[in-house]
Amino acid sequence: MELIFATGNPNKLIEASDILGVSFKLQSLRQLGFTGEIEEPWHSFEENALAKARFVYQKYGMNCFSDDSGLEVEALGALPGVQSAYFAGHEKNCANNLNKLLREMEHQPNRAARFRTVVALILRGKEHIFEGTVNGAITYAPQGDGGFGYDPVFVPNGYTATFGELPKEVKNLLSHRAEALRKMRDFLLSYEQINT
Ligand code: IMP
Repeated sequence: MELIFATGNPNKLIEASDILGVSFKLQSLRQLGFTGEIEEPWHSFEENALAKARFVYQKYGMNCFSDDSGLEVEALGALPGVQSAYFAGHEKNCANNLNKLLREMEHQPNRAARFRTVVALILRGKEHIFEGTVNGAITYAPQGDGGFGYDPVFVPNGYTATFGELPKEVKNLLSHRAEALRKMRDFLLSYEQINT
């Protein structure tokens, strides 16, 4: 099955191809010649993911999916949430975002947080939503330099190391994005079985 992944991020494309496996041929927006940014102006991951998938479906008329993710910190009322990429300002700056988070959490005993991903799939014109979460806790200082974004301050439940310290393979097994993508894969595989 051919699918467009509405992302400009080549790492996400590789991760999604690994998870979905050989039954799926993914194409990125770049491969279709689209190099612009699709806006994510909404107040929820669901709305943002759907907006991107709808944009692509309307433009290319091909089966497609998109994702939107972020970190939700309990003590901050689920912030930074959809603002995760721009928490510290309009410029997308991971180090500034992470420092702002640590400052806001400095005297906060409740460290509970979760990463959440919503994947929106449009298959033959019909919309489907898949969600993935990973629960954990925010550290008091960055640990490790692997991964990206908030990885150095997030310890998944059941572990003592941050996503910035854990091997990539471990993160990719546990992650919110992987869970949502696996749910989509299972849905698509059973859909194909029923419809072929
Ligand atoms: P996106 O929707 O996947 O592009 O994620 C938006 C923002 O959420 C990123 O710029 C990061 O700040 C944060 N984020 C999402 N997923 C992760 C992750 O797996 N690790 C660390 N930060 C993440």
